[in-house]
Amino acid sequence: MRLRFLQQPLLACLLTLVVLLGQAPAARAAFTLPPLPYPADALEPVIDGITMTIHHDRHHSAYVSNLNGQIKANPALAGLSLDALQSRIAGFPEAVRNNGGGHWNHSQFWAVMAPQGQGGAPSSELVAAIDSAFGSMEAMQAQFNQAAAARFGSGWAWLIRRPSGELAITSTANQDNPLMDLPGIERGTPLLGLDVWEHAYYLNYQNRRPDYIKAWWSLVNWNEVNRRYLQAAPPSPA
Ligand SMILES: [Fe+2]
Repeated sequence: MRLRFLQQPLLACLLTLVVLLGQAPAARAAFTLPPLPYPADALEPVIDGITMTIHHDRHHSAYVSNLNGQIKANPALAGLSLDALQSRIAGFPEAVRNNGGGHWNHSQFWAVMAPQGQGGAPSSELVAAIDSAFGSMEAMQAQFNQAAAARFGSGWAWLIRRPSGELAITSTANQDNPLMDLPGIERGTPLLGLDVWEHAYYLNYQNRRPDYIKAWWSLVNWNEVNRRYLQAAPPSPA
C-alpha cells in the first residue's frame, strides 16, 4: 500500500517531464515567414501587387509550413538555423531541400529588392569587384540576364562571391542555391538572386521572361547587395 502511494506522484512527474521534453525541440526549431519589407504594391509597375501578394503569402508561406512539417521526421533540423541548413542540405531528403531552399531563396529575394529609386547604388568596392570579374557593370548584367533567360523551367540566377573572394554568375534549378553542398552547384555566397519561376512574373509578362529580367534591374536594392558583398569577404590572411 505504502509503495503504491509513493509511485503515483512519481509517475505523474515522469510523464510531465517526457511531454515537456518531447515538445521542446519542435518549439525551438519552427521556421517563420518574414514579412515583406515594403507594401505588396510598392514594386509596381515592374512587379504588380497581386503577383507579390500571391508569391509571398501563398508560395513562400507554403515553403515555410512544409519545412516545419519536416521537423518531426528529421529531428536534425531542430538545431539548425535557415542559413546553416543550406550548407548541410545533402544530408536531408528532397522535401527539406525543396522547402528549405525555397524559404532561404525567397527571404533573400524580398531583401534584395526595393521600390524604384530607393535601392541606392553599388558601392565603390562592389563596382571595382564587378569591373575586375566581368569588365563592366553592363557586362555583368548581360551575363546575369543570359543565365536567367537560359535557365530551363524553374530556377534562379545568381551573382555570387566565391570563397576566394571573386565574383561570378551562376544559375540553379528549382529551389537550389549556391550555398548548398550538392554536386553540380557552383558554390559561393549569393549577393543577388533573381526568381525566374513563372509564379514570379506570369501575370504581367506571360512568356516574356526576358522583359521581366530587364525591368527587374530597376528594383535592385544595392544597399543590401553592398552589405552582402562585405559580409561575404573571405577571412584575412593571418
Ligand atoms: Fe518564387
